[in-house]
Amino acid sequence: MSEPKGRGAAWTEERGTSDEGRRRLEAPRRRAESGVSEPVIRTPLTELLRIRHPVVQAAMGYVSGPRLAAATSNAGGLGLIASATMSLDELRDAISETAGQTDAPFGVNLRADAPDAAERIGLIIAGRVPVASFAQAPKPELIAALKDAGVITIASVGARRHAEKVAGWGIDAVIATGGEGGGHVGAVPTSLLIPQVAAAVDIPVIAAGGFFDGRGLVAALAYGAAGIAMGTRFLLTSDSPVAEEVKRVYLAAGLGGTVVTRRVDGVPHRVLRTTMVDHLEGTRAGTGTRAGTGTGVGWLSGPRRASALIRSARNAAAFRGVSGLSWPEMIRQGRAMRRDTELTWGQVLMAANTPVLLRAAMVDGRADLGLMSSGQVAGLIDDLPSCQELIEAIMAEAERCLDRLAAVRKA
Ligand SMILES: Cc1cc2nc3c(=O)[nH]c(=O)nc-3n(C[C@H](O)[C@H](O)[C@H](O)COP(=O)(O)O)c2cc1C
Repeated sequence: MSEPKGRGAAWTEERGTSDEGRRRLEAPRRRAESGVSEPVIRTPLTELLRIRHPVVQAAMGYVSGPRLAAATSNAGGLGLIASATMSLDELRDAISETAGQTDAPFGVNLRADAPDAAERIGLIIAGRVPVASFAQAPKPELIAALKDAGVITIASVGARRHAEKVAGWGIDAVIATGGEGGGHVGAVPTSLLIPQVAAAVDIPVIAAGGFFDGRGLVAALAYGAAGIAMGTRFLLTSDSPVAEEVKRVYLAAGLGGTVVTRRVDGVPHRVLRTTMVDHLEGTRAGTGTRAGTGTGVGWLSGPRRASALIRSARNAAAFRGVSGLSWPEMIRQGRAMRRDTELTWGQVLMAANTPVLLRAAMVDGRADLGLMSSGQVAGLIDDLPSCQELIEAIMAEAERCLDRLAAVRKA
């Protein structure tokens, strides 16, 4: 392992003169001194981030804003603000709002390839945000700039070679997400990806994709990870801002309730399987094949094709109403997407509006019109605890699980 303590010391020094930085850093120690006893699992991740529990709330566009991130950090995990769906002004406000709601470390997740990535990083540094996490591999110069400013850097990876690359560039930790995860995913399952990545790099590996409880945390540690990150599980908390009707749709999903589709934005994206997603995919009745291989309404013929296209156009019109996009702008976006992918016009009408579709569900509460990124784990979740209750339950169960395993060894 690298020297997370050394990294933490640099961070302390950097922030030593700031009242706010000192307050945030000292909060975990103050809590420890308060005598409240709670399950403790120390890992290189808790040391690196100076958090109480090795549990990260994964970034979720339109979902993980100040409320969810602060609630997670206050509960002893690491909350991440998802900034890809925010304007610069919204990000600036989100940082100060989160800092106002928690003394504990939190982070901002951003796209390394965003045209305004430099400005976003400027806001992270100026806002003294302890952690920057990247949806894709950030360039070495970007990592260096953040580290020079005392910000801990984390990158999401879906394959060993990506983890090795960013570790070589000096990243502090990676989130490795297996194929059962929500949102954009790779094909390798978590149970195979984590041991492979953990064996390949010498920095803390945060396991993601399918986690929801204390047994999963212990399993991740056994695979060599230093903690877990969860998206879907945190979306399904009382602290998540998503509308109750939409949460109910997630809670109702079974283990087969998600599908990986390329028909949304051209890359594999795990979402809740809804009528609209089936239309996008071009449901192959009788074949049972749905995972990212459908050819869209193009495979239908005659009246069924016509009616699918009418449905698509009707949906697109509804999305336009939600988004406020003009028709010319929608057509411009659609043309660009059709040029870069093999989508049919029917699919393009919807796919060009991916952010709008996500927003329709996550912000406007329209499960009927929107798109709902989701991990397979939605099929195992049936409650809406607060972040505090969730993390406490995970840690208590992890302790019991470790005791059980110790007893097995003695027997
Ligand atoms: C509703 C939702 C929205 C997401 N949005 C983003 C995002 O904006 N950026 C990102 O890097 N990952 C995003 N993800 C992926 C998560 O960060 C994380 O990798 C994933 O949720 C882990 O799998 P799990 O859902 O099984 O816990 C999203 C996931 C969900 C469920």
